[in-house]
Amino acid sequence: MRFSKKTLFAAGLATASSLVSAESSSDSQVLVLGTSNFTSAVEPEPLMLVEFYAPWCGHCKALAPEYDTASVELIKENIKLAKVDCTVEGDLCNQYDVKGYPTLKVFRSGSSVDYNGPRKSDGIISYMKKQALPSLSTLTPETLAEFKKKDKIVVVAYIKEGDKASTDLISKIAEANRDSYLFGVSHDEAAAKEAGVDVPSAVLYRTFDEPEVKLGKDFTEDALASFLKAETVPLIDEVGPENYMQYAESGLPLAYLFVQPDHKDKEAQVESLKSVAKVFKGKVNFVWVDAVKFANHAKALNIQGDSWPSFAIQDIENNLKYPLEDVSSDVPGKVSSFVAKYVAGDLKPSIKSEPVPKDQDGPVHVLVADAFDETAFDDSKDVLIEFYAPWCGHCKKLAPTYDTLGEKYSSHKDKVTIAKMDATANDVPPSAGFQITSFPTIKFKPAGSKDWIDFNGDRSLEGFVEFIALNGKHKVSVDIEPLNETETTEHKEAAAKPHHEEL
Ligand SMILES: *[C@@H]1O[C@H](CO)[C@@H](O)[C@H](O)[C@H]1NC(C)=O
Ligand SMILES: *[C@@H]1O[C@H](CO)[C@@H](O)[C@H](O)[C@H]1NC(C)=O
Repeated sequence: MRFSKKTLFAAGLATASSLVSAESSSDSQVLVLGTSNFTSAVEPEPLMLVEFYAPWCGHCKALAPEYDTASVELIKENIKLAKVDCTVEGDLCNQYDVKGYPTLKVFRSGSSVDYNGPRKSDGIISYMKKQALPSLSTLTPETLAEFKKKDKIVVVAYIKEGDKASTDLISKIAEANRDSYLFGVSHDEAAAKEAGVDVPSAVLYRTFDEPEVKLGKDFTEDALASFLKAETVPLIDEVGPENYMQYAESGLPLAYLFVQPDHKDKEAQVESLKSVAKVFKGKVNFVWVDAVKFANHAKALNIQGDSWPSFAIQDIENNLKYPLEDVSSDVPGKVSSFVAKYVAGDLKPSIKSEPVPKDQDGPVHVLVADAFDETAFDDSKDVLIEFYAPWCGHCKKLAPTYDTLGEKYSSHKDKVTIAKMDATANDVPPSAGFQITSFPTIKFKPAGSKDWIDFNGDRSLEGFVEFIALNGKHKVSVDIEPLNETETTEHKEAAAKPHHEEL
């Protein structure tokens, strides 16, 4: 389990999508392929999408109805979709180096590249339509009007006939962004006039907010890049797993309005934030999200209650959270003063913590966020910390060894701290300087040092003891020879007990 920026959203989704069981759509144009007919079906097609799947895989089940819907639409454009069941066609899947399910590949006359597009039907359709076109389409007065409406976001460059430098520039940008947006170029003077631009320039046609936006600055690579970055994101859109990455990659903080999907005022609440989003455009991206479906995401952003609408800002880059509970009485007013404070640097991130334990009577020091600094940055001690999740199997397996490790160092507490922190109930404070992306994560800091060392070694008693003796400032070494018969048995029971209670 990871909750890095890439998959933070997926963590919330995993629960939601597993509840939505895949209803198989009655309409499907998806070809079923196997070893016997794969080559003969794929090689003649200039463009085709193939899914390699396993019937038991949850993400494959979620994709199935979307894939079926997309196949019906795309067959009209002569683009075929196919699927291969890897539990039956193992050799074929090995041949294509399928390592996880589902794996999607775009085939052009038999040769393939990975498909990295969306997994919703409209996203698949739009992505494959773009694949069918050249990265930059040259438009005539006859094809221009239709081209502008061909996708959610279409960029048309208006360039004077013979202006090679500008045409080369837009070709380069179109090629780099071909999976995301449609690009066309018009060399028609009358068309540029009608678009209201002086050549060379560009106009972005889109299905949200103002439908046409003109490139305001000079026709340069930088100007075009920031134009695309600013204008391809709606003022406030619904966020979900299929577009979360786009926001994460923008490098801007993300502001969420969590709304109750069936509330009568939902639309109005979302709409009311548009003016606020406009003010902070280019500084903070705004989205709205279904608070019921993505309740876990609200929790991950440290929103405590469950009264909606609620609001939170996430600094995705640094994994910092700024929740603002209950904005119901005045959504735009409360949000706008909160975001203004955030932008000015006047807000402190929320750091979730369990209560600081009164006693440390267990073998391992129990660390919580509120007491993190004094324990982790105690310069007199070598500090080993395990960041775990209560549900993580590898963590449960490690628990008895880790407890024994704590006992082994109990007579060296002045020099070595063996600690653990439940990273689902505590945020790693920004002072730590690192984030946790998987469980368990084990970090070590020698006394007096500022730098954390990753423990990636053998998670055995011996592995830990050697690591601490080698990397610690105090070079503390403990005896790990097996104890005598009686003691060893007691030991095992003591260690096994909490392990069972957990289950
Ligand atoms: C391809 O072969 C598989 C069995 O290997 C069969 O189930 C499927 O219907 C065939 N597909 C086509 C398009 O002929
Ligand atoms: C073995 O256990 C006994 C008590 O049961 C103890 O007196 C003795 O010191 C232990 N031996 C070692 C080598 O630890």
